Amino acid sequence: MKSNVDTLTNLLPVGMRERADKALEAVDVLMQIRDPRVLRALAPAGVRGLVLHRGKQGVPTEMPASHSAYFDWTYPHDHSEMQALYERAKRGQWVSEQLPWNTSVDPLNPEVRLLPEKFFDYEPLQAMGIHLTAHEQMQFNHSLCAWTLSQFLHGEQGALFAAAQVTESVQFFDGKLYGATQVMDEGRHVEVFRKYLEEKLCRLYTINDNLFVIIDSLMTDPRWDMKFLGMQIMVEGLALGAFGTLYKGTQEPLLKNLLKMVILDEARHVHYGVLALKEHIAKELTQREKEEREDWAFEVALLMRNRFMAYEVYEEWFEGRMPRAAWRAYVTNVPGMREFREVMFSRLVPNLRDIGLMTPRILPRYEKAGLLQYFGGVAAPDLTGDQMLAELDRAS
Ligand SMILES: [Fe+2]
Ligand SMILES: [Fe+2]
Repeated sequence: MKSNVDTLTNLLPVGMRERADKALEAVDVLMQIRDPRVLRALAPAGVRGLVLHRGKQGVPTEMPASHSAYFDWTYPHDHSEMQALYERAKRGQWVSEQLPWNTSVDPLNPEVRLLPEKFFDYEPLQAMGIHLTAHEQMQFNHSLCAWTLSQFLHGEQGALFAAAQVTESVQFFDGKLYGATQVMDEGRHVEVFRKYLEEKLCRLYTINDNLFVIIDSLMTDPRWDMKFLGMQIMVEGLALGAFGTLYKGTQEPLLKNLLKMVILDEARHVHYGVLALKEHIAKELTQREKEEREDWAFEVALLMRNRFMAYEVYEEWFEGRMPRAAWRAYVTNVPGMREFREVMFSRLVPNLRDIGLMTPRILPRYEKAGLLQYFGGVAAPDLTGDQMLAELDRAS
């Protein structure tokens, strides 16, 4: 997809292009949002993430939360499916010590690759005069895998806080009990991804600015259903797709095991999001509120599809050797990234359909973005983690 960044920077003298590209890309994210209400909702977080780079300062970030905690002193049994999910979640708890942490992981071993060989395509790099030796290819594999897992870890921190917030603010009492299990799950996910990065890959990359924007906007939005939509449906739905792709492709047994356990938990999280929002969107929202959420979901889906460019890996490997625009084109088309996108949207789109945010009003925009092909897929309530893993095992 040709963005405004490519068009504008091409008009500048060569020496200025790189600096301008970096600055303009931040503005471009916001310029491409067509709905003014969505823009208003995302702009403050956009400035903090894309202009001020708050996630990259190496110091803690404070995000003021402004939602209401919702108490119910009558303790109703108000949602039987959430109650069933709570029972399943209790039985599905596991401890990180169950994973084979004594596995020795060598990120540079070509016999046991973190990311599969077919994830990469080195020809476009060669065409730009960049030749990586076999050893460098393994180092590049290490970098890209560590970058991906670092983004998972940052996303899990967001999920931990979002799960705590929605547990306070959700209005289903059975949802609150279920939410308590999710807070525990997300804490465990932070624990295992941190441990894997710290002890096995010995590397941690900073948060991607666009992921920061999404997390910031969810933390600070006072509306509980926006937190649900953003975290439980969009971020978790896309993460589930990404975990699945990596689970299927990695040869490293500890990572595969870790992802398997996380996928079993995440499938419940997305299921919960669909249950809570389906009813809320159908019964509680006005037409105008529904449309706002429909537009927001579409814009955030595009943001997530187009903006995870692993610039941190680019800066480490190729800055000065190829322009940022060339990296953008490369990373967008590398086979592993294509598969990531494919699987992520095949998970996300059916959930948006099920909660009622893909009405005929918005379908042409999904079609134009090439995302309508996933419309007929299976949504989270009909796909347990076990079924998902069986499907992935069959495909690998
Ligand atoms: Fe998680
Ligand atoms: Fe989750």
